[in-house]
Amino acid sequence: MKILFATPECAPYVKTGGLGDVSAALPAMLAQLGHDVHLLMPAYRGMKVSGEIGDGVDLPPYSHWPAAQLVPVKIANGVTLLLLACPALYQRPGGPYVDASGRDYLDNAMRFGLLSRVAAQLGTVHSPLRGWTADVVHANDWPTGLAPLYLAQSRMIAPHEPTAAGILTIHNLAFQGVFPMGEADALGIPHPWRGMEGVEFWGDLSMLKAGIQFADAITTVSPTYAREIQTAEHGVGFDGILRARASRLRGILNGIDRKLWDPSQDALLPQRFSRKELEGKAQCKAVLQQRVGLAADKAAPLFAVVSRLTAQKGIDIVLDALPALVKAGGQLVVLGQGVPELQAALAEAARKHPRQVAVTLGFDEGLAHLIEAGADAFLMPSRFEPCGLNQMYSQAYGTPPIVAPVGGLLDSVTDATADPAHGSGFVMKSCDAAGLGDALARALAAWKQPQQWRRIQSNGMARDFGWEDSALQYIDVYRAAALLANGGTASELTAT
Ligand code: ADP
Ligand code: GLC
Repeated sequence: MKILFATPECAPYVKTGGLGDVSAALPAMLAQLGHDVHLLMPAYRGMKVSGEIGDGVDLPPYSHWPAAQLVPVKIANGVTLLLLACPALYQRPGGPYVDASGRDYLDNAMRFGLLSRVAAQLGTVHSPLRGWTADVVHANDWPTGLAPLYLAQSRMIAPHEPTAAGILTIHNLAFQGVFPMGEADALGIPHPWRGMEGVEFWGDLSMLKAGIQFADAITTVSPTYAREIQTAEHGVGFDGILRARASRLRGILNGIDRKLWDPSQDALLPQRFSRKELEGKAQCKAVLQQRVGLAADKAAPLFAVVSRLTAQKGIDIVLDALPALVKAGGQLVVLGQGVPELQAALAEAARKHPRQVAVTLGFDEGLAHLIEAGADAFLMPSRFEPCGLNQMYSQAYGTPPIVAPVGGLLDSVTDATADPAHGSGFVMKSCDAAGLGDALARALAAWKQPQQWRRIQSNGMARDFGWEDSALQYIDVYRAAALLANGGTASELTAT
């Protein structure tokens, strides 16, 4: 199958969160399974890509967009990277979505409209890559949300020409790509699709809604989140349309990239270790404590957070639970960046307890690996979590996670109190300070029983979070979507 995977970020080139990890690992696994995978992303400033670089292809002039080129690069994992080069839109200081001061770029509608436009065109007979047309166009999150709409538009204009199926994966429903409806002209959104049945969201235009309405199949990154987003509590205003599209919606749990996240092979660790030989983990803890300036105390249980510092991630809940953690003699290491108030409150806690609390503000891949390896337990009290990757990384690294009872966290962590034989972490009973306090107390009690702790670590390390099974489920969805795009029925797609 010819698959075009369209994404605004991909590790190791550009990553702001889990979507970057998924964009690196899922396409590589699909290629490994024998599919022809092209990955489309913008060529941002400063991106370092190694591989066999092909000739750039000029894109046909699109009405409101500056001139752009597609540059194919064959990378080592069998995927062809298609870099969308449009310096006027993408060569900027700052991140993929925000400028250096953290504000959204004012022309994000056009920046990601172009990405979506090109993705869709690669799925039509007018594909700019001569000889290569995708069978499926897999869009990810709002920045590629218009791709399914543009595919539907091509199908409408030329019903007899083959057009790829459009798939949308929702990695986070909270980011909805909302812009003034005034942008619809420049984006070329047909008038009849500007209403409630189309892209309209409270008078504005939502790119995520465009994807939800026009995709042949919709997936999200865990079965539990697929159910949650159909409820008012977690639907962020989209629960109604998701319920209406439920027969096209399926949850597929993310995997982790075993080549990058395996403590027995991880080159970023000072000492490697495995489920059978855990000794190296103690050395990672000592190096971590020293590196971040915590007391070099083997006996202090070390808890960790690696996260975007936002309300989603429950960082305020960690702050509420911190006094009890400190009082119990625990340590906390935090790596993250995000909301200034949360950053300040964490930095203040570190000033107050310099031997027990260490906070590193910023993005640091190497330190993230050291924390996963060196900490004793990992905290993820997220208010919602579509999937979450860190709880899987931490289980693989013998660092039992303490997680909120939501989304992908519920689908990937087994509570050690409820199921001592299989438990791999601790699931909070409620997503608040009381819930975290209770789970922390249970974790501390288990930590004091080395044999019990060892079993929890071992259960987590034995779990298979590899991508293969999930990639096969995506292939099922692609096949079903292709049938649906050609007038098949939604029964092809079993909602999970
Ligand atoms: P989300 O995508 O919602 O941020 P995930 O758990 O799916 O959450 O993925 C987060 C990814 O980003 C993980 O790979 C995590 O290690 C990484 N990450 C988050 N913050 C940082 C940071 N400050 N430094 C390094 N890696 C980070
Ligand atoms: C989002 C979600 C996270 C998920 C990631 C990758 O950023 O917040 O839960 O793991 O996407 O799918």
